[in-house]
Amino acid sequence: MIKRPRRLRGNENLRKMVRETRVDKSSLIYPIFVKDGTGIREEIFSMEGQYRYSVDQLPHGLEEVMKAGVSSVMLFGIPAHKDDRASQAYDQNGVIQRALREAKKTFPELYYITDVCLCEYTSHGHCGMLCGHEVDNDSTLKVLAGTALSHAEAGADMVAPSDMMDGRVAAIRKRLDENDFSEIPIMSYAVKYASGFYAPFRDAADSAPAFGNRRSYQMDYHNSREGIKEVLLDEEEGADIIMVKPALSYLDVVVKVREATNLPVAAYSVSGEYAMIKAAAGKGWIDEKSIVCETAVAVFRAGVQSYLTYYAKELAGYMDEGLIG
Ligand code: PBG
Repeated sequence: MIKRPRRLRGNENLRKMVRETRVDKSSLIYPIFVKDGTGIREEIFSMEGQYRYSVDQLPHGLEEVMKAGVSSVMLFGIPAHKDDRASQAYDQNGVIQRALREAKKTFPELYYITDVCLCEYTSHGHCGMLCGHEVDNDSTLKVLAGTALSHAEAGADMVAPSDMMDGRVAAIRKRLDENDFSEIPIMSYAVKYASGFYAPFRDAADSAPAFGNRRSYQMDYHNSREGIKEVLLDEEEGADIIMVKPALSYLDVVVKVREATNLPVAAYSVSGEYAMIKAAAGKGWIDEKSIVCETAVAVFRAGVQSYLTYYAKELAGYMDEGLIG
């Protein structure tokens, strides 16, 4: 035999030398939940090991992120008051706006991305303004743009719209530019599927829709070419980074998106992906560490530059240990 693939697998140094996928802590983004109130650090029932923090407790959560060597976070807000106008989404004293001011003061070296959506702030739990029982696209754009602007004013380094309204990237870009925030990048949740994998998040953020579902705005998971349509539109509208979400069940989409755009591509391993691993590991049926490493590398192998995951802190540790790298 002349060709023996095993020749390159016989030594650890050699295996690492010829590795095709390299991972680095600087690619990781950790999602974190901030809730109205004080003195709160409560574990999320369906997301063991993840917490909701009140603004005063948030620095403790951020300190852990820093210590792990993760340098970027994605903030989600859980307001005490929800209404049909999502008024807390764009209030200068809303939970995210206060969280940003506090976080920038205590840990200015971290990079702060904010989720821009209305579902956590509306009494009905939909991601936009309602007209009857329909989510009205165009009246929602103004509200999203105002929300993104209020985040930028409070110190957000980047905004990430996740609502899936048509034209929202353009609306946000325009509003930011008109207010001297032309340097704030937009990470678009461009290819976001209507997914059962978000269930634990909706429990965490108390944002399940009171009626119906999100299929009239989030994408049908039978489609991937439609994802490319969304990517190209968002790129034209001024998106700086394209996200695919969820991650694991959509790695084929990541591969296609990467070919279709020259923008950086991110993927988000969502709450359900986290919960599945936690639950099976808790039962002793899988080894958490090895599954977390294997799934994370799979996402990078598909071609992302950035990876949002609730396992970001652990992953950074596994990289330090040399389990992946
Ligand atoms: C807000 C939003 C959701 C997630 C991120 N931003 C929930 C949804 O669309 O229902 C899901 C994140 C996760 O499941 O971890 N629209």
